[in-house]
Amino acid sequence: MAILVVLFSVFIVVPSVSSAGAPAKSDSFTPPDNYLLDCGSPQQTTLPDKRVFLSDQNSKEHINYEGKDLQVSVDKADVPLPIYRSAKVFSSEATYTFGMNKAGWHWIRLHFFPVPTNDANLQQSKFTVVSDSLVLLHEFSVGSGWVMKEYLVNVTNKQLSIKFTPVKDSTAFINAIEVVSAPDMLISDVGNSLVPVAQTSGLSQNSYQTIYRLNVGGPKIESQSDTLGRTWSEDIKYLKPENAGKNVSVEPKVIIYPDRNSPLIAPASVYASAMEMGDSNTVGPNFNVTWSLDVDTSFTYLVRLHFADIVSKSLNDLYFNVYVGGKKAISGLDLSTVAGDLASAYYKDFVVNSSMGVNSPLKVQIGPMNEAAGTKNALLNGLEVFKINNSVNSLDGEFGADGKTAGPSRGSVAAVGFAMMFGAFVGLGAMAVKWQKRPQDWQKSKSFSSWLLPIHAGDTSFMSSKTSLGSRKGAYSSTMGLGRFFSFAELQEATKNWDASAIVGVGGFGNVYLGEIDNGTKVAIKRGNPQSEQGINEFQTEIQMLSKLRHRHLVSLIGYCDENDEMILVYEYMSNGPLRDHLYGKNLPTLPWKQRLEICIGAARGLHYLHTGSAQGIIHRDVKTTNILLDDNFVAKMADFGLSKDGSNVEGQAYVSTAVKGSFGYLDPEYFRKQQLTDKSDVYSFGVVLLEVLCARAAINPALPREQVNLAEWALQWKRKDLLDKIMDPTLVEDINLESMKKFAEAAEKCLGEYGVDRPTMGDVLWNLEHALQLQEASLKAKSEEENNAVASGASPAVPSAPAATTSLDNRPVPSPQQTNKPAQVDPIDEHSGTAVFKQFAELNGR
Ligand SMILES: *[C@@H]1O[C@H](CO)[C@@H](O)[C@H](O)[C@H]1NC(C)=O
Ligand SMILES: *[C@@H]1O[C@H](CO)[C@@H](O)[C@H](O)[C@H]1NC(C)=O
Ligand SMILES: *[C@@H]1O[C@H](CO)[C@@H](O)[C@H](O)[C@H]1NC(C)=O
Ligand SMILES: *[C@@H]1O[C@H](CO)[C@@H](O)[C@H](O)[C@H]1NC(C)=O
Ligand SMILES: *[C@@H]1O[C@H](CO)[C@@H](O)[C@H](O)[C@H]1NC(C)=O
Ligand SMILES: *[C@@H]1O[C@H](CO)[C@@H](O)[C@H](O)[C@H]1NC(C)=O
Repeated sequence: MAILVVLFSVFIVVPSVSSAGAPAKSDSFTPPDNYLLDCGSPQQTTLPDKRVFLSDQNSKEHINYEGKDLQVSVDKADVPLPIYRSAKVFSSEATYTFGMNKAGWHWIRLHFFPVPTNDANLQQSKFTVVSDSLVLLHEFSVGSGWVMKEYLVNVTNKQLSIKFTPVKDSTAFINAIEVVSAPDMLISDVGNSLVPVAQTSGLSQNSYQTIYRLNVGGPKIESQSDTLGRTWSEDIKYLKPENAGKNVSVEPKVIIYPDRNSPLIAPASVYASAMEMGDSNTVGPNFNVTWSLDVDTSFTYLVRLHFADIVSKSLNDLYFNVYVGGKKAISGLDLSTVAGDLASAYYKDFVVNSSMGVNSPLKVQIGPMNEAAGTKNALLNGLEVFKINNSVNSLDGEFGADGKTAGPSRGSVAAVGFAMMFGAFVGLGAMAVKWQKRPQDWQKSKSFSSWLLPIHAGDTSFMSSKTSLGSRKGAYSSTMGLGRFFSFAELQEATKNWDASAIVGVGGFGNVYLGEIDNGTKVAIKRGNPQSEQGINEFQTEIQMLSKLRHRHLVSLIGYCDENDEMILVYEYMSNGPLRDHLYGKNLPTLPWKQRLEICIGAARGLHYLHTGSAQGIIHRDVKTTNILLDDNFVAKMADFGLSKDGSNVEGQAYVSTAVKGSFGYLDPEYFRKQQLTDKSDVYSFGVVLLEVLCARAAINPALPREQVNLAEWALQWKRKDLLDKIMDPTLVEDINLESMKKFAEAAEKCLGEYGVDRPTMGDVLWNLEHALQLQEASLKAKSEEENNAVASGASPAVPSAPAATTSLDNRPVPSPQQTNKPAQVDPIDEHSGTAVFKQFAELNGR
């Protein structure tokens, strides 16, 4: 039946308003065109919001009508505004025209109320309304109540017309008309799409009808409280079940608009209220908050979601998923990063229709991420749904103004190709992912060396403030944001009196122990060696810095102990250990390509946060695969950023002069030459990490022939020949999509640019990696559909190369029950492809 196709055009509209000096944001707007007509009224009418609607008598130039029109009015009626008390009634076609001062977006608002009158029964009136060639209403009847229809049209002509045509033997009527300019940035043509394959352009060519505009979690906002005269309704009647959500609100004045996001998009009062998860305070809430909105599925809709984090106490604590039409629209929305601050306004647009599998009621859902880090909660502040005109330029029915019909468009065959292209990145449950039992024995491997390096080597102090933390236990409560204080005795107990068997790593700074606190919570305890260069003051300063860094993709500091001049840091425990162990050297099950991409994306997010997030300007300085740790769920987190330097801003460029530190094979050549560290040095090292992930070999392997020793040099040679697939991890051959691999390799190559200025930012790298992930997901989905079809048609299905697994909510593979019990095993390397690769090397070397 219906073909499920998913498309989310994701685009953030960032109006680029350039004005010198003063901030470019403004919540006032003076419309160049502003026509307000109170039809059928003998005199002008002033609304509570002070807008003056002129009477038809004084505005005859706008109306062109051959027949005898009827003015009807009543003194009192049960209507919200006085403009509904009068109407103009036509028995044949009538046209209003308005001269336009400025092209661009315009609101058209049509107000209808069947004024009780003896001359005509307006409740029975049936008529069509067309603006230029756009059908606004087709054979429309008002019924008994009052109605306002709002449209947003891009006017390109000098004149705008609105034509009322009654059906045969009926009448048409109108109570009031607004034609008012709207700001250009309200809807932009192309979004800055995070998801390139789903970029939608041409939005400024469409016309829109407002279907829903909800001030989620807050009261109705009347038109006088919105600079653009919009009305925002309450959302409660669409919330199902009601108790899933809980309303929260703050003072509108605390809402901030990031520089280029204008308050015209939505007033502060919209962002100042929200629905959060109903009982988010219970342990591990796991449900969605759902709004169900009836829509006509023969149309395409623009869904605009408004967010501002008004619930979190600190940045980087809240991440949640957003679904539209039952499909994942935003995975792990990180408002701290995208909006830059708490209570900061942010919105995102999605284009959906039935050929993407979106049915009526259209569901908008928010729900928690299934990951340990951060608070489990979710919120939504505002919701708008606009209907988009169909191919015959109608917003009502399938007939165009010229009588052409849109024809059968639902779930057409053409949509299948679409499904292949776009379906993937929403992560449907059917995706097959290679899965092996998780290794349990990495702890014994003691391969943790790198994150045990001294967190501060003591050459220069990178924190200006040397404030002492005060003395001992109890002095620093968690409200000071310094993490938790542990007593020495507590940690002694957690590590069974620093038992050697609890050591998971050894470094210059001291040992790292695996400990258990609070009846079973595992933690990594890094105990400084008293002989270490680092002084207690620096240690304390550092705790202050580290405890400010909170991000889903950074290993977080839980607390510390500085009793008896001890220097002990307590970190969250990353049960799957370093990424490197899963790539080579440890005989752990190989990771499928999709999972490798997700890990790289996670690590890139962590670095991006260090470089640009709220803690800004931190250079990691030692990015490598042993510093990317994996938690229970294989979520990647950057570790050892304690080594980092705060980049000071010199001549507009952030760098620190320093003695060269870092790890061989990852070192930025420019940093080596100039001894100046910039965030682009991290980008270089990350490029090496990407190659390591693709090729599953060490950055430096002295055992190999000379030209192969340095991975970056060697792989780039192959990349230039476009033959990277010859040297990639042979276990990936079956699984990897070559387009995805190409995109990934391009990103790696750019990272490895000789000069920092030529290298991308981590944000750009992230974008490319996400693209690579979409390509991989699309191909996995196509593959699984092929297999399904093969099964359905009776053909023997292709034998999967690894046990299939189902995919959990947020795209993480979960082992299926029968696999969990299997012993851990290593993915067998495909002998043939392995040999083939080897031959290629031999040939190359022989030349
Ligand atoms: C309106 O459409 C025209 C072309 O059809 C386009 O050039 C213009 O940018 C659009 N206006 C806005 C405000 O998007
Ligand atoms: C939640 O909504 C109720 C009813 O609309 C209102 O009385 C209450 O003040 C709201 N609470 C918050 C925190 O906004
Ligand atoms: C939330 O909604 C999405 C989309 O409808 C669904 O896939 C997911 O299972 C839901 N999550 C929960 C916890 O119900
Ligand atoms: C809406 O109408 C415009 C103008 O006729 C057309 O270019 C555009 O493709 C239509 N939109 C859709 C989604 O069909
Ligand atoms: C759904 O939207 C896409 C992209 O805007 C469009 O190509 C497709 O024709 C639409 N399908 C229907 C049934 O309108
Ligand atoms: C540990 O468990 C005991 C008994 O179950 C309980 O009384 C105690 O509060 C727990 N301690 C912590 C820190 O959770």
